[in-house]
Amino acid sequence: MIRRLLPPLCFFFFSFGLTTRQLTLAAAASSSKVVTSLPGFDGLLPFHLETGYVEVDEVNGAELFYYFVESEAGGEDAPFLLWLTGGDHCSVLNGLALEIGPFRFVIEPYNGTVPRLKINPYSWTKLANILFVDTPVGAGFSFSRQPQGYNVGEVSTSLQLHEFLITWFTDHPKFLANPLYIGGDSYAAKIVPLIAQKISEGIDAGRSPLLNLKGYVVGNPSTGDVIDYSSGVQYAHGVGIISHQLYETIIRHCHGEDYRNPTNVLCAQALDKFNILLSEVRSGQILLDNCGGFTSTGPGREMDDESAAAGRKILSEDKDGNETEKRLKNPPPSPTVDCQTYGAYLAYFWANAECTRDALGIKDGTVDEWVRCNRGVPYTRDITSSIKYHRNVTANGYRALVYSGDHDAIVPHLGTQAWVRSLGFPIVDDWRAWHLNGQSTGFTIMYSNNMTFATVKGAGHTAPEFEPERCFAMFSRWILNQQL
Ligand SMILES: *[C@@H]1O[C@H](CO)[C@@H](O)[C@H](O)[C@H]1NC(C)=O
Ligand SMILES: *[C@@H]1O[C@H](CO)[C@@H](O)[C@H](O)[C@H]1NC(C)=O
Ligand SMILES: *[C@@H]1O[C@H](CO)[C@@H](O)[C@H](O)[C@H]1NC(C)=O
Ligand SMILES: *[C@@H]1O[C@H](CO)[C@@H](O)[C@H](O)[C@H]1NC(C)=O
Repeated sequence: MIRRLLPPLCFFFFSFGLTTRQLTLAAAASSSKVVTSLPGFDGLLPFHLETGYVEVDEVNGAELFYYFVESEAGGEDAPFLLWLTGGDHCSVLNGLALEIGPFRFVIEPYNGTVPRLKINPYSWTKLANILFVDTPVGAGFSFSRQPQGYNVGEVSTSLQLHEFLITWFTDHPKFLANPLYIGGDSYAAKIVPLIAQKISEGIDAGRSPLLNLKGYVVGNPSTGDVIDYSSGVQYAHGVGIISHQLYETIIRHCHGEDYRNPTNVLCAQALDKFNILLSEVRSGQILLDNCGGFTSTGPGREMDDESAAAGRKILSEDKDGNETEKRLKNPPPSPTVDCQTYGAYLAYFWANAECTRDALGIKDGTVDEWVRCNRGVPYTRDITSSIKYHRNVTANGYRALVYSGDHDAIVPHLGTQAWVRSLGFPIVDDWRAWHLNGQSTGFTIMYSNNMTFATVKGAGHTAPEFEPERCFAMFSRWILNQQL
């Protein structure tokens, strides 16, 4: 192996993983690497990290990139979670480094040095093995050799993720017996129940290796249904963002309308007022400052046209090597350091550093510039609503946790609560508070299809990003089959 010369600033932080292996299987190719240290983190990683690729489209040479973190609890019965990030096309590094994974960014002004990492004490990997996957093709470090490989949609991506798991478990048979869960939040949650259904169909058909699917978990989930969005009006009314009068006007004129594309003129005018008022708050966490940069990985909420000059200025003064510099083509606008989005801003510089890419084993010539959310690729939205998959999968004996950060106006808990109820199963544990440290931490209800709905008090759209301790308590109780 020829080791590329490293830019000087990376020198102190990096070291190579121990192994690289190539596997060529009958059906699909995969490769993986054990990563023992990461740029920005002092010393060896105190958790087991493996990265790699699995080919999901042989014709076009499309490969999905993954980060696999082993459960710190270990054991054959440690749950196994496949985790996806929303967008669409946002990198799963968002979920890993900003939400539920074992490390987070140290929040300090970016000065040209690779951003530093710290341990997340509330990582879900304390309990579960988590396979974080950059999906669909084109998100994060996932790529296709042929342009046609980027031409995917919700259904084809769900099928690819099923094949991905079949290949991954074939290569890692020691995890086959662990109880398997599928998870994701925001937009990714829309395809989670379909992936679960496809796995379930595979199990019914005796597909080998046999996956030990137990259920799924979704957070502030998109379903594609109009209720995801229309419940925002009721929510904004309840928390005092819109007036009683405007609320009544919308209810009067928007009945039966798609709130994103209203046809009734009076409805459209009222929704314009609603959108202007809503833009006064950070929609992903209504109590936080609207401090620029980008929001969480909500559906279609990524945009910000501010000049990227701040980021570029730093880089032009930067002594980092040329390799890194030439990748930094579209740095996001810099939020202020105290803004909640600053960690996501740091992710861009971390993920594009040459030493990070070396440590992660990113294949040369695949993804030139890592972006947090890739807006430049097509995606077919061919699932109108995923509510029917939620009903079918839970009716077939799989468990589900549906949680809502209760300060999110992007996919408000009101809409989620309404479709969970509409599935029509009897209540087995009625609405009550759930607690942590002697205080209520949210509210929960459970139905006879083994679906638990829970709110997380104070959390926003990507709930564990805002309330990591509360979300960890909720996840660990649920995944260990305990009461919330
Ligand atoms: C940037 O900040 C880091 C962390 O505080 C520090 O170690 C490093 O020396 C700084 N680099 C420069 C070029 O100022
Ligand atoms: C429900 O899921 C099962 C697999 O668990 C599948 O065979 C069946 O076709 C699904 N039904 C519908 C209506 O999608
Ligand atoms: C970048 O590359 C050019 C030409 O290859 C070289 O002259 C220059 O010194 C390099 N800059 C740094 C910071 O390495
Ligand atoms: C709910 O889960 C329990 C325990 O895992 C199981 O015995 C039961 O069959 C499930 N119920 C349904 C409706 O799937």
